[in-house]
Amino acid sequence: MRILVTGGAGYIGSHTVAELQNAGYDVAVLDNLSNSSEKSLERVKMITGKDVTFYKADILDKEALEEIFSREQFDACIHFAGLKSVGESVAKPWEYYQNNITGTLTLVEVMSNHNVKNLVFSSSATVYGDPAIIPITEECPKGQCTNPYGWTKSMLEQILSDIQKADPEWNIILLRYFNPIGAHKSGLIGEDPNGIPNNLMPYITQVAVGKLKELSVFGNDYDTPDGTGVRDYIHVVDLATGHVKALNKIMENAGLCIYNLGTGTGYSVLDIVSNFEKATGKNIPYRITERRPGDIATCYSDAGKAKKELNWEAQYGIREMCADSWNWQSKNPEGY
Ligand code: NAD
Ligand code: UFG
Repeated sequence: MRILVTGGAGYIGSHTVAELQNAGYDVAVLDNLSNSSEKSLERVKMITGKDVTFYKADILDKEALEEIFSREQFDACIHFAGLKSVGESVAKPWEYYQNNITGTLTLVEVMSNHNVKNLVFSSSATVYGDPAIIPITEECPKGQCTNPYGWTKSMLEQILSDIQKADPEWNIILLRYFNPIGAHKSGLIGEDPNGIPNNLMPYITQVAVGKLKELSVFGNDYDTPDGTGVRDYIHVVDLATGHVKALNKIMENAGLCIYNLGTGTGYSVLDIVSNFEKATGKNIPYRITERRPGDIATCYSDAGKAKKELNWEAQYGIREMCADSWNWQSKNPEGY
């Protein structure tokens, strides 16, 4: 089966391409490389020994999409392409709504024109806002997002659900990711953020490698066991295999399905620091600072639905996630 992966040169996309190829799928990637490098795909080839067809194209470019979909027949599309920086989305809301929403509408229109109606979409735990239920099940009501990035995910979930409802030939799986960290065991592919990282794990690995002086822990007065924020960190390879399982499900004419992809376990910021130190032997100096605006205290999943319906469950524990993040960072101190 031939799968189109948009945003496949990025962090989660590249790991998913590798797992898809390992599972026997044929893969084509479409990416405008706005936040990635084609080198990630060369590295994927080193891992799997298989070629990836690469289209450098933008999901906003309808003509380019039409040409690609005319050239070959896809069975399904996994749609990662999108802008994802929370802070940047507050400063540039138009760009985020345009890229993520108009881009997805354009992609879906072209898919429909070519009768490709199987879609796996990258959503996020951010759609739960400050969650009403912990652990968070898929039935937990969606909440108020605190930034335009989050709203693009929430709105796209609604848009895609409405499209599926109007035309039941569509099979659409919305995957709500919790916090992906870690990297492929080989250390060949991993997360390669631009500039100073916003997210916790790449910040920690850059402190460990000596690029940054110390970690700022954003608040220790939350209502959590040690006062720091609690999240559900998931190994990116587990997240990638979740997409392979979602594709299996989609081929059963699944209609519209929503799954959390998390481990079901929450770790605080200080838990992550201590697990990283134990897994790697590196010391992470930190200092407690103000809370970061928009952050919530606690966010972790109930991962039971994906286990039951997709036969998928995260395999890697927190120590391995830390060790694999460090393996990637130490082997690639400047990224790709
Ligand atoms: P990433 O930035 O590494 O990957 C996204 C890819 O999309 C990049 O390669 C980028 O070049 C490409 N892209 C962006 N706009 C495009 C466009 N208009 N046309 C073509 N390509 C375009 O990010 P990631 O962490 O791999 O995230 C993948 C998806 O998962 C995103 O949709 C993101 O919002 C979502 N997500 C990520 C996280 C996370 O913490 N990393 C959490 C929840 C959801
Ligand atoms: N944190 C720090 N210091 C840092 C960075 C983060 O203390 O330098 C803390 C945060 O306050 C939070 C935790 O570490 O408590 C995790 O923060 P991240 O920025 O790594 O991740 P978030 O949970 O804020 O958000 C991430 C993505 C979102 C996505 C969400 C899904 O950035 O896009 O996970 O749960 F929606």
